[in-house]
Amino acid sequence: MEGAATTTQGLEEIAIREIKELTGKSAEKAHLGLVRFECSQFDLFKLNFLGRSLHRVIMLLLEDNFAGLEDVYRKVKGVDFSRCIMAEQSFAVRAKRCGKHDFTSVDVAATVGQAVIDSYMEATGKRLKVNLEKPDVIVRVEVRDDSFWVGIDTTGEESLARRGYRSFKHPASLKPTIAYSLVRLSGWRFDESLIDPVCGSGTIPIEAARYACGIPNTKEVKLYSMPLFDSEPFLEFRRKYEPMRRELRVFGSDINGRYLKGAEENARLAGVSVTFFKADACELLLNYDIVVANPPYGIRMGSPRKVEKFYERIAANLRRHDTWRSAVIITARPSTLVKYMGEPEKEISVLFGDLPAKVLMYS
Ligand SMILES: C[S@@+](CC[C@H](N)C(=O)[O-])C[C@H]1O[C@@H](n2cnc3c(N)ncnc32)[C@H](O)[C@@H]1O
Repeated sequence: MEGAATTTQGLEEIAIREIKELTGKSAEKAHLGLVRFECSQFDLFKLNFLGRSLHRVIMLLLEDNFAGLEDVYRKVKGVDFSRCIMAEQSFAVRAKRCGKHDFTSVDVAATVGQAVIDSYMEATGKRLKVNLEKPDVIVRVEVRDDSFWVGIDTTGEESLARRGYRSFKHPASLKPTIAYSLVRLSGWRFDESLIDPVCGSGTIPIEAARYACGIPNTKEVKLYSMPLFDSEPFLEFRRKYEPMRRELRVFGSDINGRYLKGAEENARLAGVSVTFFKADACELLLNYDIVVANPPYGIRMGSPRKVEKFYERIAANLRRHDTWRSAVIITARPSTLVKYMGEPEKEISVLFGDLPAKVLMYS
């Protein structure tokens, strides 16, 4: 079958690498924020269980261009949904739309929903029930400009980016999927020391430690009952699965003691051991192998003037203690950072929420 996974726009390369590591399958970028791959049902379960850069894991049913909603209806009606929804199951369509259209995402959901019902009726003579509140099966559709894809969302309502461990919520916290991707971009090896000197609620060091120890997503993997689906091999895998024990040197520091307390609580809930301490990132002796950071932008927190000063000081500190092997910094103020740090070796544009940002990589 064909699988797809949604991820942060710009970080598809990390999702592709992770899918290869977890399933052995080669994925490719299909769209911004979407990768696709040939897979087994077991792979879909495994990616939900262990995928760290992925938001949703989809059983892909259709990917095409379209000219208007009637075309979407016609193409979706051509899909055989009886192989992925059982007659007694209810379903709901969740739709997302990007680009300029003369229809809304609600129109897309209604069109696709009708096409699913009509296709099912034609194939089986049975009318599927819609349950918008608590569906048994979620049909996900995404329209982007003149293309769209439709699939069964094996992740469920809640994105995998919502890890279960974040009891303390920082006002400018980073998405854990992005935090994990930054760690991978840094090229961190588990015997190296890693620090986030502006760690806030600790998302980056926590994700680094979870990755190193292979800790599964705390989110329970929903096992969809689907025709032809056999969940037993995965249940067996999950029963036997043991995270690894590793001695790690993973650190997080911040100037704000209250955030550090929250970070400690989050790390405890995440089941990882991270050393947190209070320090000014601009004064701290940065004798670590890897630095991964999400400094303030002066957008959600702090003022732009203060942020400029901060970037000047932290860049001076990074250059003063340049024994680190790799520094990866995500910021919505890349030009300010480049002004003080110099041109990075590599940069990637990413989008989190509506905020365009850049990942700058130095070595
Ligand atoms: C964007 S937030 C980091 C959020 C974090 N990645 C998370 O997921 O919770 C930036 C952090 O930088 C910290 N900070 C600001 N100035 C600092 C300084 N001089 N030294 C250390 N930390 C500082 C703030 O307290 C804030 O927690």
